[in-house]
Amino acid sequence: MTILIKNANEVITLKNAVQGPRIKEQMRDIAVIEKGSVLIEGERIVAVGTYEQLAQEFPSLVDVAKVIDATGKIVMPGLVDCHTHLVHGGTREQEFNMRLNGSTYMDIMNAGGGIHATTKRTRETSFDALYEKTMQHLDVFLKHGVTTVEAKSGYGLDWETEKKQLEVAKKLQDTHAVDVVSTFMGAHAVPREYKGHEDEFVDVVIREMLPKVAELKLAEFNDVFCEKGVFTPAQSRRILEAGKALGLTPKIHADEIEPYNGAELAAEVGAISAEHLLVASDEGIQSMAKAGTIAVLLPGTAFFLRAPFARGRLMIDEGVPVAISTDFNPGSSPTMSLPFIMNLACMHMGMTLEEVLTATTINAAYALNRGHEIGTLEAGKQADIVLLDVANYKQLQYFYGMNHTHTVIKSGRVVVRDSILL
Ligand code: NIG
Ligand code: FE
Repeated sequence: MTILIKNANEVITLKNAVQGPRIKEQMRDIAVIEKGSVLIEGERIVAVGTYEQLAQEFPSLVDVAKVIDATGKIVMPGLVDCHTHLVHGGTREQEFNMRLNGSTYMDIMNAGGGIHATTKRTRETSFDALYEKTMQHLDVFLKHGVTTVEAKSGYGLDWETEKKQLEVAKKLQDTHAVDVVSTFMGAHAVPREYKGHEDEFVDVVIREMLPKVAELKLAEFNDVFCEKGVFTPAQSRRILEAGKALGLTPKIHADEIEPYNGAELAAEVGAISAEHLLVASDEGIQSMAKAGTIAVLLPGTAFFLRAPFARGRLMIDEGVPVAISTDFNPGSSPTMSLPFIMNLACMHMGMTLEEVLTATTINAAYALNRGHEIGTLEAGKQADIVLLDVANYKQLQYFYGMNHTHTVIKSGRVVVRDSILL
């Protein structure tokens, strides 16, 4: 199928000469074409430019193309949500209420709630029920303009359930329009049954789980919750190095609640990204800049836990490539709205409108090792495109707390039209 999007007020292409994640002022260069058009054939973008340019260069394609009129709207790459705990059983509104009444996130977790509560529910939920629940969540992501989602396991903490989570993600990758990219996170918490024997559990992850994940090709990335009271930097390093030896790229939940040298560790082990970083140290930020580690910042978690926001402004100024994401999970960030998270990044992390667009498209794509395929609008890339019902990109964050997604095209196919899922 050939599609021509035309008459857009603005086409935000994010195309530029930089190869790799964008840093510093590159993050503000979003390459806007006014009155722009996009030509799509099959699953790919053929060309981006003005209608006149495309009609001249590709007359026969433009002739047969089905036209999508974008008058009054803007067009941009599909959003990439590069850090979620997508597949999980149950919800935890009860804990949210406890936190509003004074309990802390870590108190609740140490008392057997938090990740442990979701682990119990995920173990109890059947494959089919998890699949149905997650499918509905993906529908919501898609309606918010998200075309690629990362999915971490880590609510099984035993092989059977970790595998179930990863297989649900795999089946959804095959059946749902949204692309699902899997990360193994068997080291998300120490299961209750290993309390006091933490190193034994680390051995189970390394000797029993990681080799099977690699053998069955159930994930591309390997993540660990490096946090006081969860996994130490030494244990985290062992887990990430073991994964690396099996071909799994390291990611790390670092410096989320207490400073723990997680950012430094990410740079040392050559992680593709360090995520959260609410309380990352100055030295950690500098080592990430030097190593080119992507900071995946999750302002929804700071908002929802009423914790200090990560220092996004400083990280960008220091030369760290920054991506932002929802962290969608049932405890610390139960939102599927990346647009809302983008607004928080502007309001609470000092990021500009342009930086936020880069952070949720091309930099997020690089955090998933897909920067060559998605994240910008340019010839040859997968046609993952959103039309938003605003007059210009500055209105995206100005009219806040609303979903402006009008049309979503995924791999060249219209999957949302008039804000309705097809
Ligand atoms: O990214 N930090 C660890 N994991 C999640 C929260 C998981 C949960 O509370 O269920 C996070 O914030
Ligand atoms: Fe997380």
